[in-house]
Amino acid sequence: MIISLLSSFHCAIYAEPASTQHRVVAPKCLLKKINATYTTLASSKNLHFIETNDAGIDALIEAKQNQTTPCGGFMDVTHAWENDGKKMNANHNAKSFLAAYETFPKTSLTTSYSIKYPTEVATLLKQSNPPYMWTRLQGLSSYKDRYSRSDNGVKAAQEIKAEVEAMAKNHGRDDVSTYFVTTGSYKQPSVVVKIGTSNQPGVVIGAHIDTLSSTFENKPGADDDGSGTVTVLEVARTLLSSGMHFNKPIYLIWYAAEEVGLVGSQYVVDDFKQKNIPVSAVMQFDMTAYAHKNDLTMWLYDDYTNKELTAYVETLINTYVKTPVKHDKCGYACSDHASWTQKGYNASMPFEASFRTDNPDIHTSRDTMEKLSLAHMTNFAKLGLAFAVELAEPSN
Ligand code: BES
Ligand code: ZN
Repeated sequence: MIISLLSSFHCAIYAEPASTQHRVVAPKCLLKKINATYTTLASSKNLHFIETNDAGIDALIEAKQNQTTPCGGFMDVTHAWENDGKKMNANHNAKSFLAAYETFPKTSLTTSYSIKYPTEVATLLKQSNPPYMWTRLQGLSSYKDRYSRSDNGVKAAQEIKAEVEAMAKNHGRDDVSTYFVTTGSYKQPSVVVKIGTSNQPGVVIGAHIDTLSSTFENKPGADDDGSGTVTVLEVARTLLSSGMHFNKPIYLIWYAAEEVGLVGSQYVVDDFKQKNIPVSAVMQFDMTAYAHKNDLTMWLYDDYTNKELTAYVETLINTYVKTPVKHDKCGYACSDHASWTQKGYNASMPFEASFRTDNPDIHTSRDTMEKLSLAHMTNFAKLGLAFAVELAEPSN
């Protein structure tokens, strides 16, 4: 409500009637390649903070798609600007606002983590159901897109929420709550599921639902990020069918509008902040099923993530999944973990491959299931389960 009032107030003053205005932090090298109009509000060494319209967002996506030398991604910070930035005077404000994106905050863990629940984790890992994941991925990648501005994108979110609600109902769980978090001018909402009723610091496991638009070709988004979406669904299925309860809440989140500048996750993080919901650790699953040359190594990404939490995730893989582990980086804020890190939360990002050897077909009509490995995806679901159980602490 407040959000919609603010943005319509805002639009009434600044925006062209037909298109939404966006505030975006983008690398200079990417902006060089776009034709669309934008106004620069502030600049730093590598970044511009700009104001643009929907066409500008589309141009940034296209420039990103066609880039020959990597130059990083952009973040649509409209919502953050309206919240954090609105109090200050225009120029000065824009510059200090941008500074927060030049150097993301260093986060640190307040608790040290250890392996405490091997029996409970082993019990859950035995219940993993790979065929469920495969069938579910077939369903999700049969939409022509899950674009954040399309009805399909909305349907995909509704379908996930309804499915988890049905799981909770079927297993007689009255400690599960589900809700949508709206995404500003995008019609696709994020889906949040809370397992447990405690208000202690919780564990967040997430993936993004959306794909790019199917205007020019279908966007099945099987790997990006149907795989992560299904990985989190499998975590939900296993937890809810297990009858296990926990001292701390587990939040399973399917983010809207990631592909258009991490928009959905920023709204979700802001919603957690506004409600003062404490979070001890975040795991992002964005692409979990492409195994380059059938190599089932799990990769931990070291930028925009917390170092100690990432080390802990490595311990979880060694203990429970027992696959090789290696480290890499995106080199820019490439997925929703960055939205958490930006606001000071401890996040981690286990990933399917190295950045260089990753799935070449994402964001195209060729991002289909044939190239994917169910074994690889299953290992990520196991990691998610181990992460949830160890950090949420079984209560019986
Ligand atoms: N899943 C990708 C991120 C990714 C791609 C990570 C390849 C590692 C290897 C994500 O959905 C994505 O496309 N992100 C955008 C950035 C976003 C802020 C618009 C990207 O990487 O261009
Ligand atoms: Zn993507």
